[in-house]
Amino acid sequence: MADELILEGETREEKYQTLIPQIKALISDEPDLVANCANIAAALRQTFDFFWVGFYFVKEDELVLGPFQGDIACTRIALGRGVCGKAWQNKETIIVPDVNAFPGHIACSAASVSEIVIPIINKGVVRSVLDVDSDKKDGFNAIDQKYLTELAELISDRF
Ligand code: SME
Repeated sequence: MADELILEGETREEKYQTLIPQIKALISDEPDLVANCANIAAALRQTFDFFWVGFYFVKEDELVLGPFQGDIACTRIALGRGVCGKAWQNKETIIVPDVNAFPGHIACSAASVSEIVIPIINKGVVRSVLDVDSDKKDGFNAIDQKYLTELAELISDRF
């Protein structure tokens, strides 16, 4: 259960190393995708105090807002638009240290300053993106990319 998360360790990497097995356990017996994505978003936000954590699901030709934790967000994003749309289009993770310097960034909230977006790929097709935002510059690095990619791979076959 999310309220039973036990978080040991001080560094961000140690926190991910503690959190990921707990997320694995959390989703292992639950087949519902929305329920699992909702708990993953909550677990990440609870652990790291990120400003916004959520999923966008690919539905036809758009990304549509899925389970998230944080402020109200844009509901639909077109292919190639913003950081999420670019990560979808390019099938690769994008780290943006300062969103003000990213052409075409979609400002759902003025408080979001940096972000990382990880595509969730099943059978070569992007099914969703995991979007994590920080209210500080340079909020994300290769450690976040490594473990958030591990998380994305953990659920990609559920899509
Ligand atoms: N930052 C995203 C839009 C979604 S929100 O930040 C929740 C983007 O530019 O793709």
